[in-house]
This record gives sequence, C-alpha cells and structure tokens, in this order.
Amino acid sequence: MQFFDLLFRLLATASLASAVPNLGVLGKYFVNNATGDRFQIVGVAYQPGGSSGYSATSGQDALTDKDACLRDAALMQMLGVNAIRVYNTNPDLNHDECASIFNAAGIFMFLDVNAPLPGDSIESSQPWASYYASYLNRTFAIVEAFKDYPNTAAFFAGNEVISDVTAGATVPPYMRAVTRDLQNYIAKHSTRSIPIGYSAADVRSILFDTWEYLQCDDTDNASTDGTGRVDFFALNSYSWCGNSSFTQSTYDQLVSGFSNSSVPIFFSEYGCIVPEPRIFSEVPEIYSDQMSGVFSGGIVYEFFQGSNDYGLVNVSADGSLYLMDDFYTLQGRYAALNFTAMQGVAPSGSSPSPPVCGSSLITTAGFCTNFSVPALPPGAEDIIQQGVSPLPSGQLVAIDNFTVTALVKDNNGNALSSLSVVSLSANQINQPGINTAAASVTVKSSATTTAAPTDTNMGTQTGTFAATTSSGPYKSAAVMTGHVQSGSTSQMVAAALLAGVMVWFLV
Ligand SMILES: *[C@@H]1O[C@H](CO)[C@@H](O)[C@H](O)[C@H]1NC(C)=O
Ligand SMILES: *[C@@H]1O[C@H](CO)[C@@H](O)[C@H](O)[C@H]1NC(C)=O
Ligand SMILES: *[C@@H]1O[C@H](CO)[C@@H](O)[C@H](O)[C@H]1NC(C)=O
Ligand SMILES: *[C@@H]1O[C@H](CO)[C@@H](O)[C@H](O)[C@H]1NC(C)=O
Ligand SMILES: *[C@@H]1O[C@H](CO)[C@@H](O)[C@H](O)[C@H]1NC(C)=O
Ligand SMILES: *[C@@H]1O[C@H](CO)[C@@H](O)[C@H](O)[C@H]1NC(C)=O
Ligand SMILES: *[C@@H]1O[C@H](CO)[C@@H](O)[C@H](O)[C@H]1NC(C)=O
Ligand SMILES: *[C@@H]1O[C@H](CO)[C@@H](O)[C@H](O)[C@H]1NC(C)=O
Ligand SMILES: *[C@@H]1O[C@H](CO)[C@@H](O)[C@H](O)[C@H]1NC(C)=O
Repeated sequence: MQFFDLLFRLLATASLASAVPNLGVLGKYFVNNATGDRFQIVGVAYQPGGSSGYSATSGQDALTDKDACLRDAALMQMLGVNAIRVYNTNPDLNHDECASIFNAAGIFMFLDVNAPLPGDSIESSQPWASYYASYLNRTFAIVEAFKDYPNTAAFFAGNEVISDVTAGATVPPYMRAVTRDLQNYIAKHSTRSIPIGYSAADVRSILFDTWEYLQCDDTDNASTDGTGRVDFFALNSYSWCGNSSFTQSTYDQLVSGFSNSSVPIFFSEYGCIVPEPRIFSEVPEIYSDQMSGVFSGGIVYEFFQGSNDYGLVNVSADGSLYLMDDFYTLQGRYAALNFTAMQGVAPSGSSPSPPVCGSSLITTAGFCTNFSVPALPPGAEDIIQQGVSPLPSGQLVAIDNFTVTALVKDNNGNALSSLSVVSLSANQINQPGINTAAASVTVKSSATTTAAPTDTNMGTQTGTFAATTSSGPYKSAAVMTGHVQSGSTSQMVAAALLAGVMVWFLV
C-alpha cells in the first residue's frame, strides 16, 4: 500500500501544472518577480450567483466547483484576462482544484477576506463592535486557505467599508488594524509575502482622505508589530460611461489625485453599464501612457450576468452558459492592447515615499485624524502566535484533463466545441491569443446609440448618465433591491438615479 501511495504521489507531483510567477509590490507598482517587470491587472470579478450567491452553509463557494472553474477559466483565457477578484469564500472548503485550474490558466486571484454575513466583516456603523477575535480568526482562516496557491496575488482587508463621512470618522483606524493583523499573521505563517490592501468606494469627497489615511507612514508611533499601512489601494469606480473621455469621466482627477502614491493603485471594479450594451472604451484609456504611470490596471465588474445586469456571460435555465455581446466587445478591447509593452516595463526607479501620518493629510471635515490604531482584541494575539485551529489549508493538485465538459454557446446560440483550458508553462501569465477556441465566432452587431453625455464635469446633469460620486453596480431601484454588495454605497446612487437626476458632488 505504502509503495503505491508513494508512487501515486510521485506521479501526481510530476503532472502538477507549472505555476504562475510570484507577484510582488515595489513602491507604487506590482512586479512580476520572474522578470522584474511591472504587472498590470487585467481582471474580471468572479461571483457566481451574484453578491447574494454566497452562503456559509451551502458547502460551496465560487472556487469549489471544478467543472465550472474549468469552463470559466477557459472562457477567461479566451477573454484575455490575467486575474479574477473573488469576494466571498468559505475557508473551511477545499479550493485546490479551482485554484490549480486558474493557476494553470495563468490567472491570478485577488481575494476578499470578508463575507457579507454578521461576524464576517467590519461594520461601518459600529466598527468597534465588529472587531473581535473570531472575526479576525475568519480573516486569518482565509489567508491559511489560500496562501499556498502561487496564484493568490493579494487580499482585500475591506471593501467599501468607508463610504461616507460618517464612516470616515470612525472606521479608518479599524481598517489599519485589520490590515496590520493580516500582515502580522502572514509574516508569521506564510512562506512568502502577500500584499494586503483596501477596496474603496469611489466617493470623491473622502476617497483621497481614505487613501492618505491608509498609506501614510506612522512608524514613529509603531510598536514592533507595525501600523497597518496598506500594501496597495484600489477603488470601485463607475465614472466612465459609454463614449466618455479622460476628462469627462474624471479619470484625470484620479490620476492627478493619486499621482504621488507610494503604493500601487488600481480599479478593483469598473464597467459602467449605461448605456447598454457596453462599449468598454475605458479599457484602452486605463492601460494608456496617460494612466499607466499611476494605475496598475483594473478589474471589470463582472463575469456572470445577475439581476443587476453587469455580466459578460449568462447561465441559462438549462444550466448551459452563453457568451453575451459584452464578452466579445471586451475581448476585442483586450486584444487591441499591446501586452508585450504593458507587462514589459521596468518599474521606474523611484517611487514616492509615503507621507508621515498627520492631520494635515486629511481635507474633509469630520474624517478621522486620529492615527492611533486600536489594539488587538482579547484572544487575537494567541491566534496570531499559534495559528488558526483547526487549520484550513490549500495546495496545488494535478488536473488530469483540461477539457471543458459543460455546454457553452456563443452569442448566436451555437455550441462551442473543443473548449479547454490551455495549461501554461512556468512563469507564464495569460493574455489574449493564448486560448483561441472561439476566435472565429462572428460578433453580432451591437449598435445601440444613446446620446453621449455632454462634456462637462460640473454642475447638475440630468438624464442618461453621470457618476462622479458613484460606486458599486446599479441599474434601477427595482433591480437593486436585495442585490447590493454589503456595505456599498450603491443604494444611495440608485436612489439618485431613481430621482432621475444625478447630482455631482465634486470636491
Ligand atoms: C517579489 O519581489 C518583491 C519586490 O522585489 C519582494 O519584496 C517580494 O518579497 C518578492 N516576493 C516573493 C514572493 O518572492
Ligand atoms: C477559526 O477558524 C477556523 C477555520 O475556519 C474554525 O474552524 C474555528 O472554529 C475558528 N475559531 C474561532 C475561535 O473562531
Ligand atoms: C504619535 O502619537 C502621538 C500621541 O498619540 C501624536 O501626538 C503624534 O502626532 C503621533 N505621531 C505620528 C507621526 O502619528
Ligand atoms: C460611440 O461613438 C462612436 C463613434 O462616434 C459611435 O459610432 C457609437 O455609436 C457611440 N456609442 C455609444 C454607445 O454612444
Ligand atoms: C439570463 O438567463 C436567465 C435564465 O437563467 C434569463 O432569465 C435572463 O433573461 C437572461 N438574461 C439575459 C440578459 O439574457
Ligand atoms: C508592442 O510593444 C512592443 C514593445 O514596446 C513593440 O516592440 C511592438 O512593436 C508593439 N506591437 C505592436 C503591434 O504595436
Ligand atoms: C508627494 O509626497 C511626498 C512625501 O510625502 C511629499 O513630500 C510631496 O510634497 C508630495 N507631492 C505632492 C505633489 O503631493
Ligand atoms: C485615538 O484612537 C485611540 C485608539 O482607538 C484611542 O485610544 C484614543 O482615545 C483616540 N484619541 C482621541 C483624541 O480620540
Ligand atoms: C478528457 O476529457 C474529454 C471529455 O470528457 C475526453 O473526450 C478526453 O478523451 C479526455 N482526455 C484524456 C487524455 O483523458
């Protein structure tokens, strides 16, 4: 028995897929540690069943269904992405097959450590009441479950927890505390460093204060355990809609606002859906010279069609999946990018150093200026020292067959034949052209003409679009009900849309 067990293990090891390169953070850039060049995120949010699709008791999450992951990894290879964002995972489930499939496909995972259930995230209204040992244990358990997959790129310590000035008054120290605790846990229990950052709502009145608060250097007051300075800062932004432009979308203000960042900046969600279908004209802009010196790419919201209408693919009632027009449009945008140029840039010599923490960094009245980070709650130090118990774990496993068996149809209703994941070689990352299974599909004309918004950044805009303060997916109030991400500002935006008028709160 033991001999065969050993033989089996050797064979299994021999057929393990190669791994993606390690990603690191160097100043304001992500770097591919195999080449030393920059890494720019070309990502898609991966959330089967939508934001309400997660249940702690269902026995599954976005990364537990091997057949679905094979299907989706193959489609994402065709799409041209190199990263997914996964919001809600259960640390007690086994993610080995899905993580191994995405790894083989050359796709990194950006993972949220929280879930939208009580006790699984910091509550913006009463952060002090939700910062306790079993909450931290949950976040550490996610780290344990994913840290050993080479394609785990980073963890989000929070998503849209600071979404208005009220939350800005009390939550920021807790975001630094959770960041600090995750960093300490990783330093003690992980064989490699994994960056920890924050995903902000694009609420301009507090966006830059939040960034300054989280990136500033407080080493003067540091204990040996650090101060919870983030390793990166990301934002969920829907301010580019339809035929917009660098200035009209106010991307120019983001670039100038973050130009001095000491940490990488990226869109942790983007992809406004007004008008539909989307034209994704922000894609060439995000990776252009105008932006890529400050931004490290972004993550399109989102892979699956849900009731809020942001999907690229839809699951039909019979369980088959079909590619929507937006899938082809986005695929075309990615295919037009020059990945060699994008991913082949050396990180420029000097990155700005972080500013020293202090109230002068904060510009909005009422936003927190106390840079003392809360002490660990009772019981948490033991978990950091001894590790989560029982210990979740994850490791790459051999995938014996990369053929997709699930039924996938193109946007004309024809089944895609011979769909499979292309298993990449060591240190390769996915990009357009690697998996061309459905390259010959004819793209249906998707011409829907809606008047582009007038070119103004000021005042009150009526009608089809605009959203400088917006964040989070929205479409209409009816659609919003029950489908908002926890803790997001989407409801406010939906209410504004319902009123038929978007008021721009420019700072
Ligand atoms: C990757 O490179 C960065 C920057 O040089 C370094 O800080 C980090 O430790 C490296 N990460 C790994 C896992 O090798
Ligand atoms: C810590 O997390 C592990 C893994 O999810 C779980 O089994 C355990 O019950 C948790 N412990 C506490 C004290 O919350
Ligand atoms: C350090 O803490 C003291 C007292 O809390 C505060 O006055 C000072 O501004 C802090 N220094 C920094 C760099 O945050
Ligand atoms: C965007 O602009 C192009 C070129 O002017 C036009 O053909 C297209 O209809 C516009 N699309 C939308 C959604 O406004
Ligand atoms: C997506 O599929 C569902 C059935 O699962 C269907 O009700 C819905 O209309 C489809 N949405 C779109 C936009 O095709
Ligand atoms: C892509 O960029 C590389 C490196 O800058 C350059 O050599 C190549 O010509 C570019 N390809 C295209 C199609 O522009
Ligand atoms: C950039 O940050 C550095 C370090 O905090 C600071 O000295 C400098 O004034 C900042 N520059 C701008 C344009 O904000
Ligand atoms: C600043 O925050 C710390 C830690 O939460 C707290 O102990 C202290 O009382 C606060 N200081 C002020 C002036 O509010
Ligand atoms: C992989 O699976 C497909 C579909 O089930 C099958 O047709 C094919 O023969 C398998 N390949 C190998 C090498 O087992």
